[in-house]
Amino acid sequence: MKLHARHEEFGLWESQSRILHQHTGKIVVTAALTLTLLIIIPLYYPLLGYFPWKASSWSSSTVSLFGYEDDIQDSTGVAAAASVKQYCDIFNGEWVPNPEAPYYTNSTCWAIHDHQNCMKYGKPDTGFMKWRWKPNDCELPIFNPAQFLKIVRGKSMAFVGDSVGRNQMQSLICLLSRVEYPVDVSKTSDQQFKRWRYVSYNFTIASFWAPYLVKAKQADPNSPLYTGLYNLYLDEFNDEWASQIDEFDYVIFSAGHWFFRPTMFYENGQLVGCYYCFKENVTDLTMSYSYRKAFRTAFRVINSLENFKGITFLRTFSPSHFENGEWNKGGDCVRTRPFMNNETRLEGITLELYLTQIEEFKYAEREGRKRGLRFRLLDATQAMLLRPDGHPSRYGHWAHENVTLYNDCVHWCLPGPIDTWNDFLLEMLKMEGRRSSEERLHLIDRKNRIR
Ligand SMILES: *[C@@H]1O[C@H](CO)[C@@H](O)[C@H](O)[C@H]1NC(C)=O
Ligand SMILES: *[C@@H]1O[C@H](CO)[C@@H](O)[C@H](O)[C@H]1NC(C)=O
Ligand SMILES: *[C@@H]1O[C@H](CO)[C@@H](O)[C@H](O)[C@H]1NC(C)=O
Ligand SMILES: *[C@@H]1O[C@H](CO)[C@@H](O)[C@H](O)[C@H]1NC(C)=O
Ligand SMILES: *[C@@H]1O[C@H](CO)[C@@H](O)[C@H](O)[C@H]1NC(C)=O
Repeated sequence: MKLHARHEEFGLWESQSRILHQHTGKIVVTAALTLTLLIIIPLYYPLLGYFPWKASSWSSSTVSLFGYEDDIQDSTGVAAAASVKQYCDIFNGEWVPNPEAPYYTNSTCWAIHDHQNCMKYGKPDTGFMKWRWKPNDCELPIFNPAQFLKIVRGKSMAFVGDSVGRNQMQSLICLLSRVEYPVDVSKTSDQQFKRWRYVSYNFTIASFWAPYLVKAKQADPNSPLYTGLYNLYLDEFNDEWASQIDEFDYVIFSAGHWFFRPTMFYENGQLVGCYYCFKENVTDLTMSYSYRKAFRTAFRVINSLENFKGITFLRTFSPSHFENGEWNKGGDCVRTRPFMNNETRLEGITLELYLTQIEEFKYAEREGRKRGLRFRLLDATQAMLLRPDGHPSRYGHWAHENVTLYNDCVHWCLPGPIDTWNDFLLEMLKMEGRRSSEERLHLIDRKNRIR
């Protein structure tokens, strides 16, 4: 059976979503099991401004992830002072009003996936488009398409992951559309593996469908409980992307919501456990188990490539915002304003998954550094946690259409808050440029001292 493009959204097959309709009684069970998940993100926590991952030890590790401590060691003091001034955690901030936004619309950009085209489907409150991210210690410039294309000229970028990763790619295409549209140079007709080329800039973007990052197979489309069951080979490379990824200069990994589904875990070819599989004598491991192993294996691909010279980005977990029910029991996201930092906090499984991926990232970054490879953290989690207002809700389709996510509180409207991920991306690419020019300066300086 082939995954139908419209339904890949939440990892449910078309037949399953139909079945879910027919078996409303079973939906309850399914929901409770598969999607205990996302779902309940309690709101309004009174621990003012407390973000566990923003504790001081974490921010100093953010510093080292970006490698600033190297700059600060400069003995002349000049470059060091400049570096210290430059240091700012762009992921730590608040949303502030931006009357200028949006920078594209559903009629200027054709790349918006129908299910995220909230303008087309009449999302009544359009205020969600009119915010920008303001880091506490600096400004995050609004995306500049000409500058982005200048930086990536002659390069290529791959998005590896699920439909939320594709959501970012489509945002990028729309943001760049003020300068140029890409042409379709896909190698296959499979919508899950697209390639786009910016002819004037010789820049290529590709998307690789790999919601579990590792090798995965659908074992049974129906059981348990009509949600489908996947076999995950947690230590095996997914060759659909792994075999081609060394061609790319930038690789952006993302994974998330598919790990909430019932899954069987294989390691070394042996069944080691599962997540909500309901099989006798199979250990029910946690979803953090598979999430951790999947990232470990994906990063191991990168660290084992002979010819790869690119930069690897981890775009961190993107929280969903169902309230007053689970995704298929009337849960919805109807808020019309972002939260402030003191109004919500990351916790529960979302926090656990976030910390898990950060741990695997740090491990891979250390390994990569030994080989001269760069790993960077595109830490979108906090910013997105604060955006319950930016999801399609029921405006990702016409009211009479049956879709998997009745109210989609997982993906992001375009235009919308996800555009900020590309603001982050551009800022990070600019930092790479700054770092390499500083490295050149340090080198010249060292040579002068030797003379
Ligand atoms: C864009 O959205 C408007 C409503 O804001 C709608 O009338 C129009 O049909 C949409 N166009 C496309 C191409 O989706
Ligand atoms: C385009 O960029 C690729 C590297 O991504 C390079 O190999 C190729 O020569 C470039 N082509 C042109 C026409 O500049
Ligand atoms: C599960 O394990 C028990 C005890 O070892 C055994 O009696 C039973 O047959 C096993 N069930 C299956 C389905 O393998
Ligand atoms: C959050 O902080 C703002 C000011 O920064 C304040 O006006 C608001 O009352 C606070 N909200 C909560 C829930 O503490
Ligand atoms: C949507 O589901 C309802 C209830 O199951 C059914 O009656 C209707 O025909 C379906 N509509 C479409 C467009 O499939």
